[in-house]
Amino acid sequence: MSDQALAANRNASSIAAPRKSVEPSRRFCVAPMMDWTTSHYRYLARQLSRNTLLYTEMVTTGALIHGDTARFLRHDESEYPLALQLGGSNPAELAHCARLAEQYGFDEVNLNIGCPSDRVQNNMIGACLMAHPDRVAEAVRAMRDATTLPVTVKHRIGINGRESWDQLREFVEKVAAAGCRTFIVHARIAILEGLSPKENRDVPPLKYAWVYRLKAQYPELEIIINGGIKTLSECHEHLAYTDGVMLGREAYHNPWLLAEVDAQLFGQPAPVTNRHAVLRQMMPFIESELERGVYLGHISRHFLGLFHGCPGGRQFRRYISEHAHKPGAGLEVIETALTKVPELAREPILAL
Ligand SMILES: Cc1cc2nc3c(=O)[nH]c(=O)nc-3n(C[C@H](O)[C@H](O)[C@H](O)COP(=O)(O)O)c2cc1C
Repeated sequence: MSDQALAANRNASSIAAPRKSVEPSRRFCVAPMMDWTTSHYRYLARQLSRNTLLYTEMVTTGALIHGDTARFLRHDESEYPLALQLGGSNPAELAHCARLAEQYGFDEVNLNIGCPSDRVQNNMIGACLMAHPDRVAEAVRAMRDATTLPVTVKHRIGINGRESWDQLREFVEKVAAAGCRTFIVHARIAILEGLSPKENRDVPPLKYAWVYRLKAQYPELEIIINGGIKTLSECHEHLAYTDGVMLGREAYHNPWLLAEVDAQLFGQPAPVTNRHAVLRQMMPFIESELERGVYLGHISRHFLGLFHGCPGGRQFRRYISEHAHKPGAGLEVIETALTKVPELAREPILAL
């Protein structure tokens, strides 16, 4: 069963009731990542930071409208603040899905204009839409009319053949005129032919200065920077020029990074003081997931990086990888894996 299906099968209390939306802070966000930012990862992330804005994996309008809507949208209230990312380009369908996002209790609805995969290009989803700013503007207008939730756009600084500053400006101005106030900008272009999605996250050079320039030129817009950010010290540097930072791969591979976010970026106490405590806090949740038939490996794959860089971290990772997939694997696998790493009363503060 997929992670989304598993999330959907959680007991009825996990279905969020509609509620009045409060605009979430986007000072620090974890990026939408297919197969990675599942509800199990998001539960882990929420143990580490209360203030980080989390994003779902992208869900296409087609999947929501023609598939099992509840299965795709169910989540746990503990994941808030949480944004739903949509993939699509049909304004009426996007409007319908934005309304669903509000009904299900999400804090924001985000439109993906950054994904370069061929599969989505064929359906006019993702980065190819950067060549169609009027279409994106129409979609944003329809979503804004359909919901009181903030409607945000995640995009690239361009695509091959459409990579000038003026073309980026045209895109942002048209989409802003349609009512989008928040732009999450992956600071590299996407190359739509010849590069895989993975290569498109590494090969085109990062141009942070372009994102800073957007903020300088449009101070009334909220500009969130994304791409290649690895440390909180880098976050502080970007925050001098932008309103927020979004981290993807680093937040996944090294989730402990999130443990300093509340203290360093929000002036609030860290919710947890050591890595062992994170997993201990998650034990009741993991147990209830196992009881309803979820297989341990589905959950544990998201915390393989928790002891990244610690003495014993590799042994922890290896033990989980070798044992969590076995039939009947349970909490004892995590308990034994935890003995591979010395427990610190308090983790050292991450260097700024
Ligand atoms: C496994 C994986 C899946 C991704 N899926 C999505 C997605 O569903 N929607 C999206 O907008 N971006 C997606 N991305 C891109 C990230 O959101 C982010 O823009 C990109 O990884 C650059 O940020 P980073 O350098 O901090 O990882 C994905 C990235 C990865 C690694």
